[in-house]
Amino acid sequence: MTTAADSSPLDGNDIDAGVDSLGVVGVGYVGLTTGACLAALGHRVVCGDIDAERIERLRAGVIPIVEEGLAPLVAEGIASGRLTFVVGAAEVARQATIVFLCVPTPQDEDGSADLSFVQAAAAEIAPVLASGSVVVNKSTVPVGSTHVVSAVLRRGDVAVVSNPEFLREGTAVHDFLHPDRVVVGSADRAAAHRVADLYRSLDTRVLVTDAASAETIKYAANGFLAMKISFINEIARLCESVGADVLEVAHGIGLDPRIGEQFLRPGPGWGGSCFPKDSRAVVQIALNCDFDLMTVRSVIESNETHREAMVDKILGYASSHPTVAVWGLTFKAGTDDLRDSPAVEIARALQSRGAAVSAYDPTCVGEISSGRQSQLGGIALCPSAVDAARGADVVAVLTEWEEFRRIDFREVSKAMRGDCIVDLRNVLPSAALLQAGLRLDALGRPNPRPGNPSDTNG
Ligand code: UDX
Repeated sequence: MTTAADSSPLDGNDIDAGVDSLGVVGVGYVGLTTGACLAALGHRVVCGDIDAERIERLRAGVIPIVEEGLAPLVAEGIASGRLTFVVGAAEVARQATIVFLCVPTPQDEDGSADLSFVQAAAAEIAPVLASGSVVVNKSTVPVGSTHVVSAVLRRGDVAVVSNPEFLREGTAVHDFLHPDRVVVGSADRAAAHRVADLYRSLDTRVLVTDAASAETIKYAANGFLAMKISFINEIARLCESVGADVLEVAHGIGLDPRIGEQFLRPGPGWGGSCFPKDSRAVVQIALNCDFDLMTVRSVIESNETHREAMVDKILGYASSHPTVAVWGLTFKAGTDDLRDSPAVEIARALQSRGAAVSAYDPTCVGEISSGRQSQLGGIALCPSAVDAARGADVVAVLTEWEEFRRIDFREVSKAMRGDCIVDLRNVLPSAALLQAGLRLDALGRPNPRPGNPSDTNG
C-alpha cells in the first residue's frame, strides 16, 4: 500500500520479488510457528525478537513454548540454514524483503487492542527496509491497522499487507501447514499476491482481498467460533434441565452441514489468548463506529454466566468448608498457556467463594511449577491428580487432558473426602469411576447411576 509519504532512504537497493527472503518480528506462539513453518516450506527466514536470551536459546534449539511438532521443525530449519535468529526488529528488516509483524497486541483497559508493540516494531524497521519490501501484519490487529503501520513507516515504497493467522495453540504447526484457507489483504494487490505466493506449495484456497476485509475476517471468525461454543454450553445446561444428552444433541445438529460438527464440545467456557481478547476488541471496534455488535457482546456475557454456573455446579457437591480439587489449568489441552484460562478463572472464583483449591495440571509440575505457583496465587499446585484430590469434597475436570482418562480412580476414591467428580469436559470413563465407588456429574449429560451398566460410557 502506498502512502502519500516520502521516498526510501535506501533508494537504489531495490529487490527482486522472485527471491524474497522472509523476516519475522516477534518469536512468540505465532511468530515462531510462522518462521519455522515458512522455513519448512523452503523459504529463507530470519526471526528476531527484543528478548536476547530467548534468541540465544532458540539458536541452541531450545523452544520456549509447548507446541506439538515445533521443536523438530525449528531444529530442521536451523540445520538446513534456512532458519536463523537475530536480536531486534531492525536486524530482521536488514536481511528480509518481506517482514511479518508477529508481536503481541495486548488488551487495553477499554477492551481494544493495544497497538504499541506493532507501532514500535514498524518504527524500528522503517529506516532499514529495502525499497520494494512488504510489511505483513500477522498479529491480530484492529481493522484499519495496515493504515496505522503505513503511517508509522512513512515509506511510500513499502507495501503493507494483512495476512491474519488462524492457528490454534497446540495444533499451530498442523494448522499452518494444512490451512483451510489463506487470507491476504491489501490495497496494493501486487504486494498481496507476492505474500499469497509464499504459500503456493500448500494445497489450500487463497483469498486475496482488501486490507479491511482481511482484518475483519479474523475477528468475525473468532467471534463466530466463540458463539458456537457458548451456544453449545447453554444447550448443555438446558440438557441437564430436560434430561437430554448434550453429546447426542451436538452430534445431531452437527450433522447438518450448515452447522457443522466442530466447536460444539461443551466445556467450562472458552478462553485463551485469542477469543476473549478478540471478542472484546471487535465489540470495541464496532462501538467506535457507533454500532452495537449485539451477538458478540452477548456471547461474552454468556461465557461469563456459564463460568459462574460451573462454579455453582461444582460447589453443589462441596461441604460447608469446601475443598475442591481442580484437574487441568491450561485453557485447553495440548498447550501450557494459562492466559485467560477458564480453568484458572473458575479456580479463583471457587476460592473467592471460600473454597480451598488444590490443582494438578500436567504442564504445571516439576521445575516449572515454582514459577507457575506465583501466577496462581493461593491455588496449591500438586504433583499428581491423586495428590490434588486428597481430602477434596469434589474434583472438577476443567481441561481435557488425555491422561485424566487413565487415572486410577480407586486411588482417587481413597484420597477424596467426598465422592463426586464434576467432568466439565466430558472426558472421563464413567464405568471406571462408578466401579471405584465414585459419582460422576458430566456436563450436559444424564448422570450415570451406580450399578446400571447401560448408563456408562466405558
Ligand atoms: C483460536 C482459534 O481457533 C484460532 O483460529 C485463532 O487463530 C486463535 O484463537 P486457540 O485460542 O488456540 O485458537 O484455541 P481454540 O482451540 O480455538 O479454543 C479456544 C477455547 O475454546 C478454549 O478454551 C477451548 O477449550 C474452547 N473450546 C473450543 C470449547 O470449549 N469447545 C470447543 O468445541 C472448542
